[in-house]
Amino acid sequence: MKILMVGSGGREHALVKKLLESEKVTSVICAPGNAGISCDAECFNVAATDIDGMLALAKEQQVDFVFVAPDDPLALGMVDVMQANGFKCFGPSALAARIESSKVFSKKLMKKYGIPTAAYEVFSDAAQAVTYIKEQNKFPVVVKADGLALGKGVIIAEDMQQAEDAVKSIMEDKVFGASGNNIVVEEFLTGPEVSVLSFADGKTVVPMVSSMDHKRALDGDKGLNTGGMGTVAPNPYYTQAVAEECMKTIFEPTIKAMAAEGCPFKGCLYFGLMLTPDGPKVIEYNSRFGDPETQVVLPLLETPLADIIEAVADEKLDEINVEFANEACACVIMASGGYPGSYNKGIEITGLDEKGNAEGATVYHAGTKYIEGSFATNGGRVLGVTARAENLEKALEKAYNATEKIYFEGAHKRNDIGKRALEALK
Ligand code: AMP
Ligand code: GLY
Repeated sequence: MKILMVGSGGREHALVKKLLESEKVTSVICAPGNAGISCDAECFNVAATDIDGMLALAKEQQVDFVFVAPDDPLALGMVDVMQANGFKCFGPSALAARIESSKVFSKKLMKKYGIPTAAYEVFSDAAQAVTYIKEQNKFPVVVKADGLALGKGVIIAEDMQQAEDAVKSIMEDKVFGASGNNIVVEEFLTGPEVSVLSFADGKTVVPMVSSMDHKRALDGDKGLNTGGMGTVAPNPYYTQAVAEECMKTIFEPTIKAMAAEGCPFKGCLYFGLMLTPDGPKVIEYNSRFGDPETQVVLPLLETPLADIIEAVADEKLDEINVEFANEACACVIMASGGYPGSYNKGIEITGLDEKGNAEGATVYHAGTKYIEGSFATNGGRVLGVTARAENLEKALEKAYNATEKIYFEGAHKRNDIGKRALEALK
């Protein structure tokens, strides 16, 4: 099996490494990839959103399977095009990817099928949205852009002024572009957050081990929202009882709902959940593997990933056993100084070996490139320093120890990844 991986982040690096462990995989290529990925897989300079270019690459390289990892090519229908050209794929169709690419679509789906989520209203008019928020007069209130916004299209407004500013910046100043033509105004929920990635083949859903993201830039959940500054798996709040409830009230109903709507979901469906005092509720769906959740979930996967993605493509997920190790994994993101705001690129990274790793950990590269033969920064999130161990405390210790060996000017990491999870375990 020769596989083309579409994407260029730490998630894709983790997917490439895991696929290469499967016996039936002969090679993996990646586009566009990054410096770290190129240590494991040949990389080609085709943008992840370039559907024609990616199709030409898949044909020229005679791959057997195309794995579309990021949200934008999925929303643009890359899987539909690949399948129409005879390629087996991992990833949902454009219609199914709406579960992430349109919050209006996903909220309506949940309402129609009784899947627990925050109460909400949709607006296409800024003045009406503001009037509604004033009438409700309940703060905080959550304002979300309808479309994709790099995980930044959610604003939690503490008072009326912040809410008005949020509506204005999304709908009038269009800070997220056309993603802000419609907005969702929703009830603020409280409780621990849990990420659950799942494999789905349109009919069957198989949840993976749970994880916990750390979305804010700074320690103590302060600072701006980011794509994710670190993860741990499993998530201690996600008990067996909670898992069973989620399967019954959220996972299976979602898969059935998507099939009933004529857009069965095939690929990785990511459930962003909040364990509220009224039970688990959906905060968001993603139509893809999470980043950096993937970096802590895949190292615990014991079943060959290639077998699973084939079963998903062939709609035979019910015929295989998907198993995870009963251990723990932690990923600490090293980001460019200034991220998620503006930052410099092209800064030399030291402390990595020639394969891009650091002693005692696996380093998944997110934003790296080669400059004169050395690794250099090339994005906001640069490296995901990851370790697996028999328990979370040890995994965190190994990951943090490895980060100490890596240096680039301005490097920023959170120092409290997994802290809350450890407290919950006590
Ligand atoms: P999202 O991009 O939808 O995952 O939202 C980003 C983050 O905003 C989530 O991880 C939550 O921490 C927070 N959030 C989103 N929706 C709500 C909500 N209804 N209540 C409380 N927090 C929320
Ligand atoms: N880490 C959150 C996401 O991938 O959306």
